[in-house]
Amino acid sequence: MMLKDKVALVTGAGRGIGQAIALALAKEGANVVLSDLKKEFLTETEGQIKALGLGSCVLTQANVSNGDEVNEVVKIALDTYDRVDILVNVAGITKDGLIAMMSEQDWDDVLAINLKSAFLFTKACSRPMMKQRSGAIVNIASIIGIAGNAGQANYAASKGGLIALTKSTAKELAKRNVRANAIAPGFIKTKMTDKLPPELVEKMKEQIGLRRLGEPQDVANVAVFLATDASAYVTGQTIVVDGGLVI
Ligand SMILES: NC(=O)c1ccc[n+]([C@@H]2O[C@H](COP(=O)([O-])OP(=O)(O)OC[C@H]3O[C@@H](n4cnc5c(N)ncnc54)[C@H](O)[C@@H]3O)[C@@H](O)[C@H]2O)c1
Repeated sequence: MMLKDKVALVTGAGRGIGQAIALALAKEGANVVLSDLKKEFLTETEGQIKALGLGSCVLTQANVSNGDEVNEVVKIALDTYDRVDILVNVAGITKDGLIAMMSEQDWDDVLAINLKSAFLFTKACSRPMMKQRSGAIVNIASIIGIAGNAGQANYAASKGGLIALTKSTAKELAKRNVRANAIAPGFIKTKMTDKLPPELVEKMKEQIGLRRLGEPQDVANVAVFLATDASAYVTGQTIVVDGGLVI
């Protein structure tokens, strides 16, 4: 129970990687503030936490790209638990297309939900974390943010930006003992990758060293490491979790 009495706020906690991270943090004893756009997804995650008999959780329905809604989520966290020890920015979307065909709206939506959201949550959580003189921020980026990808210019820019935001956050907050790190997953089995054509998934597997797609738990394990004191001397880093796809 490395996170007993700690408070963790997880966005995109309704399913996929966010849900796996929320459950993993709860298993380590954290009280979790679950945030997602979809109420019904949150109820599902809450059900799993309760079924496992884990610590308390609070549900917050919000759009991560809306500043007022983000501030309300952080307020609920502070009103309920009086502190925020861990912030995990997971919520994200894809709206793929070639640059020549990509609408301005698809560019803006992906940048707002994947990147601006992390700025808004980091801003709102940085004050209480600095006051506490402790905190761990974990941003879920992507290998696409490191390597780029044809057809995903908006997504790649958002995730590359998230890695740069993580480094700046780490430099700004280190003197107050607040750490910020990113995880860059490869191909992880979730609803997001379910929409890819099966033949593309098979081709991808051949390029992955470990010859399999990752599980949400593979990402959650690293998130727990970055959220706990096991990584007390690690900040500003991006850990790639891709089974050896990009080496
Ligand atoms: N699945 C992968 O292969 C993979 C790889 C690299 C990075 N990632 C990143 O991991 C994160 C989670 O991906 P996933 O595969 O679990 O996806 P997912 O689609 O299964 O889950 C995303 C969650 O975010 C929520 N969400 C979406 N837009 C939101 C908004 N505006 N406000 C609040 N919540 C919102 C959704 O409701 C959903 O619960 C994303 O940031 C994604 O870019 C995923």
